[in-house]
Amino acid sequence: MKEVAEWIDQLICGDALEILRKMPNAFVDAVLTDPPYFFDKLDNQWDIDKVEKRLPSQKVVKHLPPGMKFDPEQGRQFYRWYLRVSQELYRVLKPGGFFFSFASPRIYHRMAVAVEDAGFWVRDCFIWLYVQNQPKAMGLEHFIDRMPINPETKRSLKERFNGWKTPQVKSCFEPILVAQKPYEGTFLENMLKHNVGLFNMNVRIGLNKYPANVLIVEGIEAELDKYFLVPKPSIHERGDFNTHPSVKPISLCEHLIRLSTVEGAIVLDPFIGSGTTAIAAKRTGRHFVGIDINPDYIEIARRRLRQLRQNLFAQ
Ligand SMILES: C[S@@+](CC[C@H](N)C(=O)[O-])C[C@H]1O[C@@H](n2cnc3c(N)ncnc32)[C@H](O)[C@@H]1O
Repeated sequence: MKEVAEWIDQLICGDALEILRKMPNAFVDAVLTDPPYFFDKLDNQWDIDKVEKRLPSQKVVKHLPPGMKFDPEQGRQFYRWYLRVSQELYRVLKPGGFFFSFASPRIYHRMAVAVEDAGFWVRDCFIWLYVQNQPKAMGLEHFIDRMPINPETKRSLKERFNGWKTPQVKSCFEPILVAQKPYEGTFLENMLKHNVGLFNMNVRIGLNKYPANVLIVEGIEAELDKYFLVPKPSIHERGDFNTHPSVKPISLCEHLIRLSTVEGAIVLDPFIGSGTTAIAAKRTGRHFVGIDINPDYIEIARRRLRQLRQNLFAQ
């Protein structure tokens, strides 16, 4: 087994479960991750060709995009897999260490139970709020058109069901599961021994006297922005070469890292994609360990990190 020093600030290409199993016990201060949600091809194999094909380009959804097909089995598959991942994360985290996991409202419950069943305490659910997103609901016109009925009956059915669509409202938030590995002794004893286990309430946003469990990154409305807007992500932050389909805002990740760890801490992301957690860790004076199964994404993450280093030197 490799020593702790050999994992620090490394991006590793491979299957998260396999790589995690090679890591030492209790050396990570926090886990911050956005796993595949098991919708269609976005599973733990993450087939890049199929992922790209499924990304909807049109504004009006005429056909159900493959990933939106409702299948309750996806949640159950996700649970079984995420339980095993969470068991490994539990082992590599220090006592008291926090585990932040982005989710989708549709599988959040499975995620929370998997993480809890692995031994974590579920502490909170943060919400990342936004206004812009593509509505995914689908009307009935195309189904009616395909029915073997006369045009007049089709017309009257369309009129009758005008406005009625599949039950998918515009999704405007992402839940972030906040879990904690049980601490040793008291909070203070754990903090003194492991430097982790509490939240730093000096990490404030705007007028809020305490960090809140609602976060926004784009200005939404003056009153909300005053309390919940983390510093806006810059326009260039993802990099024009970054083709990853689900890049997280750096400022949001920075906020969670600052809230839950001290400088010098190690933040692990087992599904690091284009490297956002690594960038956020370095920008806040922490270390990272990143894993992704896709070599293209690892290369994008490396490039973003190189760019960050160049920008820091240029300052
Ligand atoms: C939602 S994306 C993460 C995006 C990332 N937060 C960012 O800002 O770029 C999930 C990532 O998990 C990766 N992935 C899927 N299955 C995996 C596995 N078994 N092991 C490691 N990584 C995996 C995918 O390649 C994908 O990049």
